[in-house]
Amino acid sequence: AIFAPMQDPESLTSQLLAWYDAHARVMPWRVSPQDRAAGVRPDPYRVWLSEVMLQQTTVAAVKDYFHRFTARWPTVSDLAAAEDAEVMGEWAGLGYYARARNLHKAAQQVVAHGHFPTTLDGWMALSGIGRSTAGALMSLGLQQYGVIMDGNVKRVLTRHQAIEGDSQSSAIVAQLWDLAELLTPTMRNASYTQAIMDLG
Ligand code: ADE
Repeated sequence: AIFAPMQDPESLTSQLLAWYDAHARVMPWRVSPQDRAAGVRPDPYRVWLSEVMLQQTTVAAVKDYFHRFTARWPTVSDLAAAEDAEVMGEWAGLGYYARARNLHKAAQQVVAHGHFPTTLDGWMALSGIGRSTAGALMSLGLQQYGVIMDGNVKRVLTRHQAIEGDSQSSAIVAQLWDLAELLTPTMRNASYTQAIMDLG
């Protein structure tokens, strides 16, 4: 089917960016629009940890875990060197424990490789990282072009474009990815990515 957006995509993008400049939420892993303009760069390790913790989990539930993890293991090498049982112990209570096992395994993959991935495919090759998380890491972690499609983005795009039906179905997910690629700007990509998740 030919996909025709109902609403002008460019106006959604520019409105989201303007809204984010005024109302961005402050989060421990996030670089604010002001800091970004001043040249502050994100830490891919912290962005990655936050994205894995935030899958299926709210920001409020994640914050304390994020602080404990980063205090105990400040870098990816520290995390890679931890014992499995220690990582699982710190994760206890967050749920979806496969995330913690994959996170630990992926930390060891990064250390074995010598550095963080620099491409979408490189991120997707790590344990537990799918297309959306890899897109978030390109965008928020590396400040390059990245497109995301998590529950927040689905919520915004299905409503903005009046897409009906089951947003878990593969046909609609494919349509949403097409739409997201159309909407996601090159300029200010990370701010856009954060903005659409905040709105969601
Ligand atoms: N959910 C998943 N990733 C997020 C992020 N970076 N900010 C807010 N909510 C999120």
